[in-house]
Amino acid sequence: MWRKLVLLVAMSLLVTVFAAKIEIFSWWTAGGEAEGLQELFNIYSKLYPGVEIINATVAGGAGAQAKAVLKTRMLGGDPPDTFQVHAGHELIDTWVKTGFMEPITFLYKEEGWDKVMPKGILDIVSYNGEYWSVPVNIHRANVLWYNKKIFEKYGLKPPKTFEEFFQVAEVLKSHGIIPLALGTKDGWEAAHAFETVLIGKLGAEGYRGLWNGKTKWSDPRVTDALETFARMLQYVNSDHAARTWDEACALIVEGKAAMNIMGDWAVGYFYAKNFYDFGWVLAPGNEGIFDALSDSFGLPKGAKNRENVINFLRVLGSKEGQLAFNIKKGSIPARTDIDKNLFPEYQRSAMEDWLKHEIVPSVMHGAAASESWVTEFKDVISLFVARPDVKTTQKALVSIAKAQGVPQ
Ligand code: GAL
Repeated sequence: MWRKLVLLVAMSLLVTVFAAKIEIFSWWTAGGEAEGLQELFNIYSKLYPGVEIINATVAGGAGAQAKAVLKTRMLGGDPPDTFQVHAGHELIDTWVKTGFMEPITFLYKEEGWDKVMPKGILDIVSYNGEYWSVPVNIHRANVLWYNKKIFEKYGLKPPKTFEEFFQVAEVLKSHGIIPLALGTKDGWEAAHAFETVLIGKLGAEGYRGLWNGKTKWSDPRVTDALETFARMLQYVNSDHAARTWDEACALIVEGKAAMNIMGDWAVGYFYAKNFYDFGWVLAPGNEGIFDALSDSFGLPKGAKNRENVINFLRVLGSKEGQLAFNIKKGSIPARTDIDKNLFPEYQRSAMEDWLKHEIVPSVMHGAAASESWVTEFKDVISLFVARPDVKTTQKALVSIAKAQGVPQ
């Protein structure tokens, strides 16, 4: 009797220890994000039905909380099997150069990804002649979304320039509509919007130069961007500090606010809420520019379920995975061999723009600068929202760039 019991306990212990699992770490919990992730899980589970997926999410847009949790786990020798990371500086500086990842060049060769992804994307997941993560999408950060019904009701045209933005905002305000929805709860959303103002004022070349020293942060166009942003902030909802990015999008859905500057995960949110009365133009002054970022996943050293990760990465890079995920997520595939007619209207237009617009890297989403720079940039802009002092803020931006070793 006792022997049987001991045997049973031992067996069940073995089953729990060796049961096939994969822990996937991300911050995709909001409308659109969660649905996109679920599509990837569905495909993976169909192919590997015996593997249990542990969906390790930490809520907070742009990884506001997830990144700190990830850091603690990685430094503590307890990496998730795979984790969401932005291609570019966030991947390479934070995790690759520091020796935390395994190269996955063999997967690129086996799956032929280097033949179906554009050079610009391959470059930002490469280091030392190896590939380090699989990009699952391309997101666009510089979009102005608007509620079509409100615009129709007041006979307004979506603004393309800053001047038009302020004209439209005045009319909306006079009708008691919040002109620009904003959420600043997670500390990154204002910096996101400001990034698009920098692009609008400096153009692609000038904006790119901010991150490599060719444009000085003391440039009068940066002053103009700050002054303009301060003016824009006069048209946002007063409860912005209590709202996350998706709760700001909710104001558009509810018809309380008319516009919102956000990445195209917002469209994923709108779809998830069955809201289709939205329109889009580029953020003011951003005509012809694609402010880009890419979500990717890699293989951390010491991943407990290495084989399962490799198979999950295969799904991420596959045509089927990229199609199902991006339809829900609002982004476009990193692969260029997927028929755009399979996507909703917004993504079709983004896929066309991706081929013809000038591409700049998003700073707020890890593509343009190291994480320490991004953190300081976002903190300074958060302070600016509370106290829009242009001089002090510009000085701070200059010092931050200097501290990053970029001559000013
Ligand atoms: C970005 C991420 C997107 C989206 C957004 C809001 O950083 O790349 O996929 O999820 O945050 O959470």
